[in-house]
Amino acid sequence: MSFDEGVQATNNDATKCKYSAVKMGYWHDDYIQHFVTGFERKTPEINRGYYARTKGVAMFMDKFLKKTGSNCQIINLGAGFDTLYWRLKDSEVKVNNYVEVDFSSVTSKKCFLIKRSNSLLQSISSQEGEVQMVGSDLHGSDYHIIGTDLRNLAELENKLSQSGINFEIPTMFLAECVLVYMRPESSSLLLQWIANKFNDVFFVNYEQMNMGDNFGRIMLDNLRNRGCELAGVDTCLSSQTQMDRFVRVGWDSARCWNMNNIYEHLPEADRYRVERLEMLDELEILQQLLQHYCITIAWKGGTMADVDHL
Ligand SMILES: C[S@@+](CC[C@H](N)C(=O)[O-])C[C@H]1O[C@@H](n2cnc3c(N)ncnc32)[C@H](O)[C@@H]1O
Repeated sequence: MSFDEGVQATNNDATKCKYSAVKMGYWHDDYIQHFVTGFERKTPEINRGYYARTKGVAMFMDKFLKKTGSNCQIINLGAGFDTLYWRLKDSEVKVNNYVEVDFSSVTSKKCFLIKRSNSLLQSISSQEGEVQMVGSDLHGSDYHIIGTDLRNLAELENKLSQSGINFEIPTMFLAECVLVYMRPESSSLLLQWIANKFNDVFFVNYEQMNMGDNFGRIMLDNLRNRGCELAGVDTCLSSQTQMDRFVRVGWDSARCWNMNNIYEHLPEADRYRVERLEMLDELEILQQLLQHYCITIAWKGGTMADVDHL
C-alpha cells in the first residue's frame, strides 16, 4: 500500500467509528449508514471521543453561522464520507454553498454511494437544477464534491471556482484529521494560499496534539503498525505549534483547546445523557485520549475576529 493509499483508508476507519457512535445513540445521523457496510462496535472511549469531536466542531460552526446568516459558504477539506451537508439540510440551516474536497479515489466512491441512495440524492436535487456527476466530481446547486490532492493548489483553485466558490464572502474551512497526513511544508502552503485568497475566512481544525509525550508516541506506533504515517506530526506537538502554523502564514490569529476543555464546555444536559449510554472502564483512559486531540480555530478578516473563546 502506498503512503497516499494508507491515508485514504483512514476515511473508512473514521466512517466506521462515526457509525458506531451513532448506533449507540451519541448523536443522530440518518445518512452515515449509506457509507458503511456492517457494524463494528467501538470502545466506549472511542465513541465518546467521536461525540466530543462532532459536537465540538458543530459548536464552532454554529458560532460562524450565527454571525453570517446564510450568506456564507463551507469548505470541508479531506471530507471523506462525512454527512454534515445532509445534517445541515435537515436542521434547515441554509448556506450559499457547501463544497467537499478529497482525493479523487475517495470522492468517486462517495459519488457512487450517493448515486445509489435516494435519500442522499433527494436532498441535493430538491434544489433547482440537476445534479451533475462528472468523473470523481459532483455538482449540485448548493453542494459540490471535488476530487483533488490538497497539495495541488492550482487544481484546487480551479475546481473551487468551478464549484461557484466566491472568494469575497465569509467562508468556513473545516478539516478533521486531515492536515496531519500532509507534510508540514504542504499544509503550510495550503493554509497560506487560503489566507491570501479569501478575504473573510474562519478555519476549524480538529486533529492530534501532544504527540511528543509517551501516550502520543504509542498512538503513533499503533498507526504506523496499521500502515499509516502521520507526516505532519511536527505541527501536532502542542497548542502553540497548532496556532503558530496559521499565524506564521498570514492568518490574523488562532486559538487552540484540547478535547477535555471542549468536552467540558458542551451543554451539561447533553453530557449527562451521553455519560449514561455506556460505562467507561476507566475515566482516565478517556481523559488521556482527549488530551491528545484538539480543536484549533483561526481567522482572517472581520466576521470571526471576536470569537476567540469557548
Ligand atoms: C481520517 S480521514 C477524515 C475524514 C473526515 N474529515 C472525517 O472526519 O470523517 C482523512 C481524510 O483526509 C483525506 N486527505 C488526506 N490528505 C489529503 C490530500 N493531500 N488531499 C486530499 N485529501 C486528503 C483522506 O483521503 C481522508 O479521506
